[in-house]
Amino acid sequence: MKKQVDGKLRQEQKTSQPVTEWTGPYLEFRQVSKIYQMGDVEIRALNKTSFTIERGELVVILGQSGAGKTTALNILGGMDRVTSGSFQMEGQEITALKERELIRYRREKIGFVFQFYNLIQNLTALENVELAVQLCKDYLDPQTALEQVGLGDRKNNFPSQLSGGEQQRVAIARAIAKKPKLLLCDEPTGALDYVTGKQILRLLEKMCRKERMTVVIVTHNSAIAPMADKVIHFKNGRVEDIKLNRQPKSIDELEW
Ligand SMILES: Nc1ncnc2c1ncn2[C@@H]1O[C@H](COP(=O)(O)OP(=O)(O)OP(=O)(O)O)[C@@H](O)[C@H]1O
Ligand SMILES: [Mg+2]
Repeated sequence: MKKQVDGKLRQEQKTSQPVTEWTGPYLEFRQVSKIYQMGDVEIRALNKTSFTIERGELVVILGQSGAGKTTALNILGGMDRVTSGSFQMEGQEITALKERELIRYRREKIGFVFQFYNLIQNLTALENVELAVQLCKDYLDPQTALEQVGLGDRKNNFPSQLSGGEQQRVAIARAIAKKPKLLLCDEPTGALDYVTGKQILRLLEKMCRKERMTVVIVTHNSAIAPMADKVIHFKNGRVEDIKLNRQPKSIDELEW
C-alpha cells in the first residue's frame, strides 16, 4: 500500500517538474553558406546568411531570381544540407541530423509548397493530398483541404488535367493538410491570377494567425511584403535587409 502511494507521489513529482522551455529564436540561420560545385566552377547559392524566425511569425523572403531563396527554403525544410554554418530549430542543430532523423523532421514538422508543384502525376488531386497525410497523426481531412483551396469539385482529376494554378493549389492543399508547424511556400502565387492569388494568400495568413503555423513565403512580388511580420531581402546569396512590420496589412489592402 505504502509503495503505491510512494509511486504515485513520485509520478506527481515527475509531472509537476517545470518543463524547461526554449526561450531563444524558433529558427536560426547562422552564417549559412551553400556552395554548388559544377565542374571547376563554384556556385555560391548562399553566402554566410544569418536570420531568425520566431514561432508563429509570417515571413516573406524577397529577392531577384538566383538570389538563393529556394536554396534557403530547401535548407529550412530539411531537403538540402548546408555547406557550412548552422541552422537550428528551437536550439536543435538540424545540420547535424542523420538522414533518417532528417526524414522524420520533414515528415513531422514541415509542409512544403514547391515552386514547381511536384505533384505525383499518376495520382488524382485527392490521392496526392491523401498520400501526404498518410503518416501524420493529426491532419486535416484531404477533401476539406481541397475545398479550402477551391478545388473540392476537381478532386478526381489528375495533375495533367489541371491548369498550372490549379496544380499549385493542390500543392498548397497537400502542404496544409499535414497541419505542419512550419509551412514553407516557394512562389505560392507564381502561377495564379490576381483574385486566386489573393485567395491563397488569405488562406496562408489564416494558417498562420488561426492555426498558429509559422509561415514562410518566398516570392519575387514585393507587393506581398506588407502582409508579413518580417521581410527578409536576399541579394546574391546574402541577406541584404530584414524589416519588421509592426502592423502587417490585410490582404485586401495589397495591390499588384
Ligand atoms: N542544384 C544546383 N546546382 C547548381 N547550382 C544551383 C543548384 N541549385 C541552385 N543553384 C544556383 O544557386 C543560385 C541560387 O538559386 P536559387 O534556386 O536558390 O535561387 P532563387 O532565389 O530561388 O531564384 P528564382 O527566383 O529564380 O527561383 C543560382 O545561381 C542557381 O543557379
Ligand atoms: Mg526559386
